[in-house]
Amino acid sequence: MKLCAALDCESAEKNLAIVKKLRSLDLWFKIGLSGFIRDGWKFVNEVKRVSGAPIFMDLKLYDIPNTISDAALAIAEGGADMFNVHASAGVKAMSAVMERLSALKTRPLVLAVTALTSFSADEFAEIYNRSVEGGAVEMARSARNAGLDGVVCSAYESRAIKSVCGDDFITLCPGIRFEGGETNDQSRVATPQTAALEKCDFIVMGRAILSSTDPKAAALKALSAIC
Ligand code: C5P
Repeated sequence: MKLCAALDCESAEKNLAIVKKLRSLDLWFKIGLSGFIRDGWKFVNEVKRVSGAPIFMDLKLYDIPNTISDAALAIAEGGADMFNVHASAGVKAMSAVMERLSALKTRPLVLAVTALTSFSADEFAEIYNRSVEGGAVEMARSARNAGLDGVVCSAYESRAIKSVCGDDFITLCPGIRFEGGETNDQSRVATPQTAALEKCDFIVMGRAILSSTDPKAAALKALSAIC
């Protein structure tokens, strides 16, 4: 199981200061929409250069098959080690992504976003007209059928997804908080210990590390719970 630290600070300088504090640890860095849209590939390359750590580009692509696969190729050629698309883009779009990447000698891991961890059961049902677990498992099945490597889900869906898609199908779980921590805008939150019990392959932690007075100590605390 791996820890992925989300670089969600309000500037490239602050994110790079976090990278310098955490770079001696065995973890991944996650660059999401805010950091990438604001700071671009220059920032991604700087994180890679400073840390040498693997990079998850959390850009949650959602578009028609031709556009999404063009974007996926650009992300792969930019040097991402892992990136994601929305499962709701559909099997045709996810298959087009995998087909486009098949021309590469090595390709990044590709995950599909199922139910955002910020959704409560009611909010998810309002949009998708079904339960979170049922929806997440169905989306995971589509992603596996399209040849993706795994999904983004909450820790609470990880076990059900693996029972359907296989133990080697990756589950990456955001919404991770230490016991009693602020949930912020997340709904389906879990501790690192719960994520380990639920067989998650990656946990993503942003604010619980970034807003700590000692980010390295917070990351070490998470690592000691999952290793
Ligand atoms: O601060 P926090 O730990 O809640 O940050 C979670 C990170 O994971 C954010 O960067 C968010 O964009 C991302 N994420 C998420 N839920 C998903 C996919 C990604 O919270 N389903």
